[in-house]
Amino acid sequence: MSIKKVTVLGTGVLGSQIAFQTAFSGFEVTAYDINDDALEAAHDRFAKLVSIYRDEVDGAKDGKADKAAESITLTTDLAEAVKDADLVIEAVPEVMKIKQETYRKLGELAPQRTIFATNSSTLLPSDLKDSTGRPDRFLALHFANDVWRYNTAEVMGTKETDPEVFHAVAEFAGKIGMVPIELHKEKAGYVVNSLLVPLLNSAMSLSAGGYADPEAVDKTWRIATGAPFGPFQMIDVIGLNTPYNILVNSDEDGKKLAAWLKTNYIDKGKLGKSSGEGFYKYS
Ligand SMILES: NC(=O)c1ccc[n+]([C@@H]2O[C@H](COP(=O)([O-])OP(=O)(O)OC[C@H]3O[C@@H](n4cnc5c(N)ncnc54)[C@H](O)[C@@H]3O)[C@@H](O)[C@H]2O)c1
Repeated sequence: MSIKKVTVLGTGVLGSQIAFQTAFSGFEVTAYDINDDALEAAHDRFAKLVSIYRDEVDGAKDGKADKAAESITLTTDLAEAVKDADLVIEAVPEVMKIKQETYRKLGELAPQRTIFATNSSTLLPSDLKDSTGRPDRFLALHFANDVWRYNTAEVMGTKETDPEVFHAVAEFAGKIGMVPIELHKEKAGYVVNSLLVPLLNSAMSLSAGGYADPEAVDKTWRIATGAPFGPFQMIDVIGLNTPYNILVNSDEDGKKLAAWLKTNYIDKGKLGKSSGEGFYKYS
């Protein structure tokens, strides 16, 4: 089962990174999005990635990053995008209906041999498998934001995923410079968010409850465990809106933390590193 031609659906934050990293690693890549404006935005995202790779990634000078960007075929024609794909990586919005509709169309348009992988962070592949029409050739391949730096790729199938498909996708992840993390069964949050979300919530509970300031919580975590960043530094990088959106839709304790985040930070424009200030100030 050889993967050579890869199509990425959705060219937003993660889709653009996955397409770029895959092209940079020498694969033939097509990227699909819904309209010309989205493709224009993708073009800009690739240009930014070229400059980031030149600065941060070994071997990206001498035009390799520019060549990767130029090599990606951009299209708004889904049939054209997938007609010869060995692997389709789906990174469309985290909305069940959009994903299901995408897989329904994809199942009709892609060749029978094509493998489908979802990058969904919160939906399980079981939630989507029936829409694909080919549950044996479907699984999750979950990347982390800033794929060139935080290069885990969590591979998670359903009970129906063909083990050979699972193996081929894990091998592909390695070939594009990711460290494949294989999950033996489905778990909401995969490995990374199963660890991270409770840590971040506990940190917020400590500060919202008045036990310790964010700086003290971070300092404790860094010194006592040797970790380079504390949980509040991590939230600043993620952006405060993401934990807020998760917490506001959770239980009573979660809603209290969401209110604390909103009143003390979000309403004051402190949205995290990208806004210049979150729990910390950035120059
Ligand atoms: N942002 C992250 O940090 C992150 C990390 C890991 C996984 N993910 C997952 O990746 C997926 C995409 O997230 P994102 O942050 O890149 O979102 P995004 O909003 O930045 O990008 C989504 C893209 O999909 C396009 N799109 C909209 N409707 C579409 C359709 N019907 N068909 C094809 N494309 C369509 C949009 O135009 C946009 O370019 C989600 O499943 C998310 O859970 C995101």
